[in-house]
Amino acid sequence: MNKETHVAVQRWYASYGRQDLPWRTTDDPYHIYLSEVMLQQTQVKTVLERFYFPFLRKFPSLRALGEAPLDDVLKMWEGLGYYNRAKNLHKTAQILAEEGQAQSIAPTLPSDIDKLIVLPGIGKNTAHAVAAFAYKKAVPVMEANVKRILCRLHKLTTPVDTQLWELAYAMVDKENPFDYNQAMMDIGATLCKVKDPDCLVCPLSPICQGKEDAACYPTKKKRVVPTREEHIMISVYNDKFSLSQRDGKFLHGLWGFDSIEVPLCASEYLGEVTHAYTHFKLTCKVYVYHELDKTQERYFSIEEIRKLAISKVDEKIIKLYLDTIHTY
Ligand code: ADE
Repeated sequence: MNKETHVAVQRWYASYGRQDLPWRTTDDPYHIYLSEVMLQQTQVKTVLERFYFPFLRKFPSLRALGEAPLDDVLKMWEGLGYYNRAKNLHKTAQILAEEGQAQSIAPTLPSDIDKLIVLPGIGKNTAHAVAAFAYKKAVPVMEANVKRILCRLHKLTTPVDTQLWELAYAMVDKENPFDYNQAMMDIGATLCKVKDPDCLVCPLSPICQGKEDAACYPTKKKRVVPTREEHIMISVYNDKFSLSQRDGKFLHGLWGFDSIEVPLCASEYLGEVTHAYTHFKLTCKVYVYHELDKTQERYFSIEEIRKLAISKVDEKIIKLYLDTIHTY
């Protein structure tokens, strides 16, 4: 990218960029790393309004996070979804806290991309973001918004990641990589949108090859989203609910109701809840059983359930139950 375009991008950022986002006004590597992990699948507004500050209040340092029980971390992640992010964040904090202790120093994140990328949950983009934002390295970041910009600039319909990284490295503003990278994400989020891009006011417009037919780049993938159906049993006894901690791959570590093959005799059908995950849609047929179910190990009151980390679907199931009994 030429000097003129770098100047235009920096000017645009100075006037319209979201410079006051809390992870942009700090150089604490832990805070920046946390924001990047939260922002991987979640919008800025949600992270900012509901999750970032409470998480930092509860775990103010990498050491505090590494020393906390996983259950507490999952509880603070409740509602944010994609719980592997929280588990990997915790594992990485544990690894770094142990390393810090061995060297009698406060734990922190490494500044080298090669060292960052081997830590659990840190992929290529997160490693680049930590290096660029926490350590001011002249490397590009490339989340979904930046990818879209690159595709449009170069008229790429079906981009390959290696090609995109090469283009991104060639473009980065080495004089101010921090503002440049934040600006690229903001331009992607607010101007170079999937639909109706605002090319007329875009600082990249003079070098954009795809602006005449921007919506063609990249080609939209037609995704088929499969539906998975489960039967869920709520056992309620003395106003307490049976829940168990999941140990399979899906939602591992969270508490929830059991999925069953066949509803127990004498159980009552309550209704259906659905939830859309990235790769499938889950439909749960919910049954309730009012006897003591001896196969269940633990029963919890509603107040006790509020202290556990549970998934969105299980929350919806509880709501369905409470709404149903209140309408009787
Ligand atoms: N998404 C990923 N990183 C981000 C950042 N630093 N600011 C806004 N959105 C982001």
